[in-house]
Amino acid sequence: MKKRVYITTPIYYPSAKLHIGHAYCTTLCDVFARYKRLMGYEVFFLTGSDEHGEKIESKAKEANKTSQQFVDEIVVGFKELWDALKITNNDFIRTTEQRHIKAVSYVFSKLLQKGDIYLGNYEGWYCVPCESFWTETQTGDDHLCPDCHRPVEKKSEESYFFNTNKYLPALMKHFDENPAFLTPISRKNEMINTFIKPGLADLAVSRTSFSWGVPVKEKPGHVVYVWIDALVNYISALGYPDENAEKFKKFWNDKNTEIIHVCGADITRFHALYWPLFLLGLDLRLPDRVFVHGLLMMKDGKMSKSKGNVIDPFPLIERYGVDAVRYYLARETVFGSDGTFTPEQFIERVNVDLANDYGNLLHRTISMIIKYFDGIIPTYQGQVTSFDNELEELALSTIKEYREQFDELEITEAFISVFKLVSATNKYIDNTEPWNLAKNGETKALASAMNHLANNLYIAAVLLSPVLVETTKKLFTQLGIEEKFLSIEYLNKYGVIGGQKVSKGIPLFPRLKPEDEIEYIKNLMS
Ligand code: MSP
Repeated sequence: MKKRVYITTPIYYPSAKLHIGHAYCTTLCDVFARYKRLMGYEVFFLTGSDEHGEKIESKAKEANKTSQQFVDEIVVGFKELWDALKITNNDFIRTTEQRHIKAVSYVFSKLLQKGDIYLGNYEGWYCVPCESFWTETQTGDDHLCPDCHRPVEKKSEESYFFNTNKYLPALMKHFDENPAFLTPISRKNEMINTFIKPGLADLAVSRTSFSWGVPVKEKPGHVVYVWIDALVNYISALGYPDENAEKFKKFWNDKNTEIIHVCGADITRFHALYWPLFLLGLDLRLPDRVFVHGLLMMKDGKMSKSKGNVIDPFPLIERYGVDAVRYYLARETVFGSDGTFTPEQFIERVNVDLANDYGNLLHRTISMIIKYFDGIIPTYQGQVTSFDNELEELALSTIKEYREQFDELEITEAFISVFKLVSATNKYIDNTEPWNLAKNGETKALASAMNHLANNLYIAAVLLSPVLVETTKKLFTQLGIEEKFLSIEYLNKYGVIGGQKVSKGIPLFPRLKPEDEIEYIKNLMS
């Protein structure tokens, strides 16, 4: 078992404010990073900003700012968003930082010296927003970008090229030998059918039409193509090209570290094909996993400023709390599939799962412990009724299932498992009928019921802690559980909770009035 994890998000373009779609990826990575830390792993979690390129340069001009000024201002907003979402990244890499520029220059020169990069002439159809060249066939008769469907322009320029075919056989071998390298499997098939089978063209890796980028020191007038620049962040943040840098040794070169890149479906080929090819050129180890998540859409399709259907995460966090937003993102859409954001589903998730199932379970449990046992959780006495037996078994199998699912990045499924346990615990109240046990003087069974409720709530809270970062503490406080119990260590054995003094607090998630809130969220779209 590997005990160290390096997890990365894509680095975002500071061309505009981030929306809920960007927040989706970073939040899911944060949930995963927190899960691994909970499991005792040493985690390095990286995010950042991809600040060079023609698009940023022209946006800055439009805004009458220098490119640097422009990105500096937008990146402040990125960091504020990650703070608001309680993202626990260990570093934030900006591609305009010296440490990064140095690495990009080094990478380019090294590949050039090895003969993996050569000078040629590029002619093709170029999409400015995607910073990508396309072939005649790819853009079709209308000459539209196959990715974003905007018009492309014909361009010809002197350019350096990366010889993709040199390392392709090695990459294919890696795909074959490591079935989990690129998941979900549909993405792997897509890469093979769309890019590999038709023949992977050499990649243009420098530009001359603009200057906002890392200069190619061997050829004035050329800047390094933004995608090489961007991908190198995954190693520059660890100290590369200094291969003796502490972080690089620990989180890249050490085979005991599991390296996981997470990215959206629109940028799969850069992470699953070009990045590994560059790494092979650099004689560096390949990541263990590239996990591709789906896109979060709106009812009328892709989120976009021009459509006016973009949701800013800030007001959502402010009104519903960070945990509601994080939970919605992690639970609503299966990680790996596309999803649709709707205000109706958002409110329903919060009301049904968080307010009704989870919040209410805590509220009912605390009220009964106060009523029947003066607020002290009875200690564990083993299995007193057959319902106890069933509930314990389910709790233990849920922990196991949750871990297996999480380790495979089946994050949504892992939370579904926890909520099955929460529902079963609610059902346990209906089955054991504590009010009747109290009426009939069955104190032992009643004490056992209260103990099982508290223990199951505790287990659910620990398992939900990677996503519910504020609520878990509140639940612990209300159940009188010390912070040290927020650890996987105590989950190996059932019944560790007992003897604590509970206290009534405010509901974890107040029930929302759907009509009002749906209206409120609809008004946020801009
Ligand atoms: N800068 C490049 C990434 C370089 S990584 C070495 C880039 N930036 S981006 O800001 O356009 O997008 C970053 C990530 O956000 C991508 O993984 C993309 O899939 C994700 N998302 C952008 N919109 C999204 C949704 N609507 N839904 C889910 N993820 C979305 O590409």
